[in-house]
Amino acid sequence: MALTLPDGFQWPAGFIWGAATAAAQIEGASHEDGKLDSIWDHFARTPGNIAHGDTLDPAVDHYHRMPQDVQLITSLGLDSYRFSVSWARVKPADGPVNPKGIDFYSRLVDELLENDVLPWLTLYHWDLPQAVEETGGWANRDTAQRFLDYAITVHEALGDRVTHWTTFNEPLCSSLISYAGGEHAPGRQEPRAGLAALHHQHLAHGLAVRELRERGAEKLGITLNLTNAIPNDPSDPVDVDAARRIDALWNRAYLEPILLGAYPTDFLQDVAGHDFGELVHDGDLTVINQQIDFLGVNHYHDDNVSGHPLPADHPQGLRPTEKTTSSWFVGSEFVTGPTRHLPQTAMGWEINPGGLRTLLVRLGREYPELPPLYITENGSAWDDVIDADGAVHDIQRVDFLERHLEAVAEAIDEGADVRGYFAWSLMDNFEWAWGYEKRFGIVYVDYTTQERTVKDSGHAFAAIAAGARSVT
Ligand code: NOJ
Repeated sequence: MALTLPDGFQWPAGFIWGAATAAAQIEGASHEDGKLDSIWDHFARTPGNIAHGDTLDPAVDHYHRMPQDVQLITSLGLDSYRFSVSWARVKPADGPVNPKGIDFYSRLVDELLENDVLPWLTLYHWDLPQAVEETGGWANRDTAQRFLDYAITVHEALGDRVTHWTTFNEPLCSSLISYAGGEHAPGRQEPRAGLAALHHQHLAHGLAVRELRERGAEKLGITLNLTNAIPNDPSDPVDVDAARRIDALWNRAYLEPILLGAYPTDFLQDVAGHDFGELVHDGDLTVINQQIDFLGVNHYHDDNVSGHPLPADHPQGLRPTEKTTSSWFVGSEFVTGPTRHLPQTAMGWEINPGGLRTLLVRLGREYPELPPLYITENGSAWDDVIDADGAVHDIQRVDFLERHLEAVAEAIDEGADVRGYFAWSLMDNFEWAWGYEKRFGIVYVDYTTQERTVKDSGHAFAAIAAGARSVT
């Protein structure tokens, strides 16, 4: 199989081909070398929170297998590796620095650089120290200051070697879905705490960008999960309105304070009943509205939105988190997948590569101040197995990958400034509330032996990257 690209298309010079992971999903060693609980370690202990009662240990034992995993990245010929630093490993009780914790990331960065792989570092991929949660977590404004202290610690240790810094990964998930929806750690279902988390993560982002910029960080940005909110029935004004409000809540409330220095007016109307305005102090939006050098885009699927209650016999039913999270503020129902009769991945997420193209083009058109874009995550889960020949023939993932790369190429052809693509994920790992059931890797992990096997999708991705590089 090959990519069908627009006539005369060439990937932009220097386009980055990479793969991504996150600390909590791969490292294991949750209580080793001074690391203490993150909110996810704590959350996983409550039966019912994680499928099959899975925990974050040993995950894929990356903490002990890091050099081999870097070799894996090298064997795929990738330009960059996107990983996150665990706050609970570096400053376990949010007090003094844990030397062994920071040393792990220092060794990782050295290993990457020795192998010519660009380290793409994320400071926060959802694993707040439990000690900080116990002081109110992201609902507490002080947590933004604590995040800044943590960011400075990491920059002091790695800033001589790391050029690309991402403050937050998918703050929608670590704010509203974690504090109002309750599906993610810390599992709170308090709408006002969700909104406070949203604002305080914005503030933390702005404080960190401003400070790390002064300290000489080269490239600073954030990764947002962005979606196209599609009215279930485009001719129904109720659905159209619900889609607009979901777009405000999921997309614009995250994009606009950063890019424009203001929360969207329709979002403010929807959250006014929760006294959102009181959370926003004078000067906050100026801090948040720092110039960024890149915007990371995570995209997996579009979202169909209906403003009507779903019929009881709807084939999918409502996904409980999204119902809870959005219904606090918007009251609309939230539907994905089957309503549009599209094929789905093992997550039940619809497959629609054109959505990625639409999203990338739309961002450039709607926000003239948009910095360069990087797809920091895109991928799919399938029920992979090792075949009799010892290989993993994940043809559906290969197809998903190829069709989405074609969509990225089309978007670039239409003028979107996209400069890189990171596959989610480098390897199978702990898929949050789904535990180890859902496999997203381009490398298969046998959870009994921890053996890694490059899947067909990994080989395909490596070949596409090599082919693209040879002509740019
Ligand atoms: C986005 C998150 O950043 C990542 O941690 C997660 O595993 C993927 N989505 C797949 O759900």
